[in-house]
Amino acid sequence: MNVAFGPLRVLPLVALLAALPAGNAASSDGAHAPASASSVAASARTAASAATATSVERGRYLVRAGDCESCHTAPGGKELAGGYPIPTPFGVIYSTNLTPDRENGIGAWSKDDFWNALHRGKDDEGEHLYPAMPYPWFTKMSRADVDAIKDYLATVPAADVRNKAPELPWPLSWRTVMAGWNLLFFHEGEMQPDPAKSAEWNRGAYLVEGPGHCGACHTPKNALGAVKRDEAFRGGSVGEHWFAPSLTSDVRDGIGDWSVAEIVEYLKTGSNDKTASAGEMTNVVRNSTQYLSDSDLKAIAVYLKDIPATREEANAAAASAETIRRGEAVYVDNCTGCHMDNGAGLAKVFPPLAKSASIQASDPGSLLHVVLGGAVMAAPKTKPTGLAMPGFRDKLNDQQIAEVVSYIRNAWGNHGSPVDAATVAKVRKAEIESPQGDPGAKRAEMLVCRSRGAPATCPAPAAERAPAPGHS
Ligand code: HEC
Ligand code: HEC
Ligand code: HEC
Repeated sequence: MNVAFGPLRVLPLVALLAALPAGNAASSDGAHAPASASSVAASARTAASAATATSVERGRYLVRAGDCESCHTAPGGKELAGGYPIPTPFGVIYSTNLTPDRENGIGAWSKDDFWNALHRGKDDEGEHLYPAMPYPWFTKMSRADVDAIKDYLATVPAADVRNKAPELPWPLSWRTVMAGWNLLFFHEGEMQPDPAKSAEWNRGAYLVEGPGHCGACHTPKNALGAVKRDEAFRGGSVGEHWFAPSLTSDVRDGIGDWSVAEIVEYLKTGSNDKTASAGEMTNVVRNSTQYLSDSDLKAIAVYLKDIPATREEANAAAASAETIRRGEAVYVDNCTGCHMDNGAGLAKVFPPLAKSASIQASDPGSLLHVVLGGAVMAAPKTKPTGLAMPGFRDKLNDQQIAEVVSYIRNAWGNHGSPVDAATVAKVRKAEIESPQGDPGAKRAEMLVCRSRGAPATCPAPAAERAPAPGHS
């Protein structure tokens, strides 16, 4: 029986549809005194500004830290009213209504019911949730934080939107099957602080491993869609050929040469002097990390910097001299205007292409997505540039893209295996079927339609509509 579920591979599909919640960042000082062993536990688990913010404000902050809106607010739908279809290889699972509507939402849920959902992955009737809901991470959150989220959710407008049943084949439609998955892969339990580490490190660990669920994308998964715990943060495929690079201290593949300040800037604004976010990560920045306090972002950075290097991908195959020569010609014709001859880009405007982990990664998927489909900066309030990288899917063929990408993976001190035209073709296909910047509702409609078969009758993919976001 094939119970491969791959819930984590659906995360990006969800993130792509992220709505852009307006409003102010919840203020939070999140300040931490130097650790004393006894204070570590308390401070790591306390949500930001326990002393000054009310539980509702704290809950709102945590809803952002947990990126709940990306999944629970359907594009064009009512805030947190659910109904967004999440496709899995086996069928569609819908997010649920989290508003206080007693009939359709969670207004009638007790705090214990809500705790059971986030902590144990079970609904108010004790039925298993599918791990398309990131409860394997949320289980690490403290009871006080989960209660604060419930307090906040009680204040959003009640929406009369009915939950939709998942469209899964038997036996997956039988929720009890998830008991087996949980037995194998789910480790229930709140985060236990490490007394040997600082309060700041522990706060970072809590945010990354708990609400932030960063490992859901940045850690490789096994065939059943569960993360490989012994390869934490070594980079993971997030579906549709997007790749979330390693967050280990590897210098080439990870963030070994990023400073704490550079990590903070990236999470707050979507870019820094080394790189700019694209795809799923742009949505994470837009909907979640840009709202975190500077001290929480610093705590995340301190925790990430402590993940050891692995160096397992040090040996990349070499590209032929001919490929490099042809790729350079494509680069000079199409890319130097913004990224410069030496790949240095232009500070604060165009990202450098030298030394970037995404560009040198063993899996070139994200890089190919950016070159084919373009990318728009996250453009949060703090850095509202909105500059775009134009997509080259209409201008360059697979062979040319393979060449230019093989070139930039090996120019200016970069070192990454060459990419062939067949790989470009695969990503191009995924990109056409799953366009960024597609109006969410339309895309959702297309995905549900396709999952039911008869793709010919489904809404057209983006390639047949407007081209990727244009030049600035
Ligand atoms: C990656 C997408 C995703 C994110 C992020 C996410 N959820 Fe969910 N959530 C889902 C899906 C999908 C379901 C439905 C699962 C099912 O049908 O088994 C769900 C179900 C739930 C339920 C059960 C509701 C019910 O009626 O059974 C609760 C409660 C919940 N989520 C709360 C949250 C909160 C709070 C956050 C943020 C801290 C959050 N979720 C973040 C996808 C997500
Ligand atoms: C929905 C999937 C997803 C989640 C959740 C996610 N990321 Fe990412 N992340 C990505 C992808 C994809 C990229 C590559 C983006 C690119 O190529 O520009 C990325 C890139 C990054 C980078 C840049 C790495 C580099 O070398 O260029 C950092 C740092 C990062 N993420 C940190 C985090 C942190 C911290 C969290 C949790 C708070 C997080 N991510 C959650 C998907 C995700
Ligand atoms: C009009 C200016 C412009 C041109 C021309 C251009 N780019 Fe870009 N490029 C950008 C901008 C702006 C970004 C940042 C977008 C983002 O990631 O949010 C970017 C990002 C990138 C990235 C991601 C960088 C990272 O840090 O991960 C790659 C790779 C890239 N460009 C490659 C190319 C290649 C190859 C070409 C030529 C085929 C090219 N670009 C042409 C403006 C340009």
